[in-house]
Amino acid sequence: MTVRSDERALREAAFSALEQAYAPYSQFRVGAALRSSDGAILTGCNVENASYPAGLCAERGAVASAVAHGHRRFDLLVIATEAEEATPPCGYCRQVLIEFAPALQIISVTRAGAEARWSLGELLPHPFTPAALTHP
Ligand code: THU
Repeated sequence: MTVRSDERALREAAFSALEQAYAPYSQFRVGAALRSSDGAILTGCNVENASYPAGLCAERGAVASAVAHGHRRFDLLVIATEAEEATPPCGYCRQVLIEFAPALQIISVTRAGAEARWSLGELLPHPFTPAALTHP
């Protein structure tokens, strides 16, 4: 499988996850598709709540699903939205992602075809990682 077709599969998975988003408060639907080091695709969507801070982002949903299915290393994340501009993951999600994927590449795509790419390292320089908790 080529890198290009992998990306296409992740884009499709992210948009199909977006269709499952539960976003009645913001109307901002998000889908996320993570590729694990063995090539599996794990998805998530945002799940909002009447108690607003209890809502969950799509990216963290994808990480939770991946870990629950035995995947802990990831190399690519595709985020799908219906926004005008391609949007990066929020700060909380960046922190959750870096725990498992310090070298993650991120592609954000919109329904209308806008696209942006970043590395997670670019979006979260000087991260707090498990290494900081290592005792001498
Ligand atoms: N949201 C995500 O799911 N991922 C992001 O990267 C940014 C924001 C969700 C949270 C909330 O349900 C809605 O989008 C508006 O912030």
